[in-house]
Amino acid sequence: MSCQLLGSDEIMHHAEQTLGVRSGGTTADGMFTLEHAECQAACTEAPNVQVNYRHCHRMTTGAFDQLVDDLRHGRLDGEIPQHGTLGRVRQQIPADKAAGVVAPDATAAPVWLPAKEAAK
Ligand code: FES
Repeated sequence: MSCQLLGSDEIMHHAEQTLGVRSGGTTADGMFTLEHAECQAACTEAPNVQVNYRHCHRMTTGAFDQLVDDLRHGRLDGEIPQHGTLGRVRQQIPADKAAGVVAPDATAAPVWLPAKEAAK
């Protein structure tokens, strides 16, 4: 909803015009596949575009053109992984953006396991 209210439809229309494909299509060179996405849980930074699971916040048509140009010329190779490498690359959250979530203690027994069984 945030993205839609802040111009995602305009961004998608611009993307379709710029790339020459409709949503769901792939460019003739195979470099870009354009798809709608559901909320990416970055609503405060809307409108968002996602490229291989990397978020590009507060997107504008001009920023989209720059993004496409940067991708075509490999200027984002260190930031945005190649398609197909997503499962091996985790999203990095800068320390100043972290919400204070603590990773679960993987050595502790699951909560549904009775204590006497966990001690075995
Ligand atoms: S509506 Fe776009 S990130 Fe939530």
